[in-house]
Amino acid sequence: MTLGRELIHLASVASTMDVVDEYARAGAAEGLVVVADEQTAGRGRAGRVWSAVPGSSLLCSILLRPSLPADRLGPLPLAVGVAVAETIESFVPRACGLKWPNDVLIDGRKVAGILLQSRLSARGMAYLIVGIGINVGASLELLPEGATSISASGGDADRESVLATLIARLDRVYRIFLETDGRPDLAEWRRRAVMIGERVTIRRDTDELSGRFKGIDDRGRLLLVLDSGEQVSLIQGDVVRGPRAS
Ligand code: BTN
Repeated sequence: MTLGRELIHLASVASTMDVVDEYARAGAAEGLVVVADEQTAGRGRAGRVWSAVPGSSLLCSILLRPSLPADRLGPLPLAVGVAVAETIESFVPRACGLKWPNDVLIDGRKVAGILLQSRLSARGMAYLIVGIGINVGASLELLPEGATSISASGGDADRESVLATLIARLDRVYRIFLETDGRPDLAEWRRRAVMIGERVTIRRDTDELSGRFKGIDDRGRLLLVLDSGEQVSLIQGDVVRGPRAS
């Protein structure tokens, strides 16, 4: 197993993303995992804050140095989402949903979030940091609106067991990702996908697009059929159910 050969557990950090970044710049090997009990400046996607009551969540970042060109990495966030969903499903008597690209949901509530941060060098991709936050033991009152945890969903788990399962699942998914040259079978993602076939709005940095969520392609891009009938493929954005508010 490549992932988790080196594991650093810290009590409190600003963000595990920054800790792994420092180790990566100093030449750390692929597979380094940094876990923290608490983050004082946890980050989510699109510049959002990721907050968690200390000790209640699995907060970790993992260093990857994929031997593939950057343009083959599109499906990786989705593959990581599958590994996180499989991990959670082994502790909860429920199926997880996946909201593109990789929010992990139970009954429409977010139980885990994933953040990928890449560093480029003059020669291409230098390394990739995968940050994962899984709500393990927090009660609903202590979680942000619309969130849930493993225990609040009827599951029973401690952070160490969730981490061990997560590393094993991620290692498998990552190995397959590399073996297939970045074109893994995304059937397990599609099986859990929420909102496919529905009318959705994609919120992006500078605009919003509404249409029918047709599915994903083999690069992990979201396929949206606009009202004009034109189909677009998107690599980034937040999916929200329903048409754009006018
Ligand atoms: C999201 O859904 O917006 C992504 C959330 C990612 C949170 C994790 S917690 C561990 C790692 N460190 C961070 O600062 N963020 C990620």
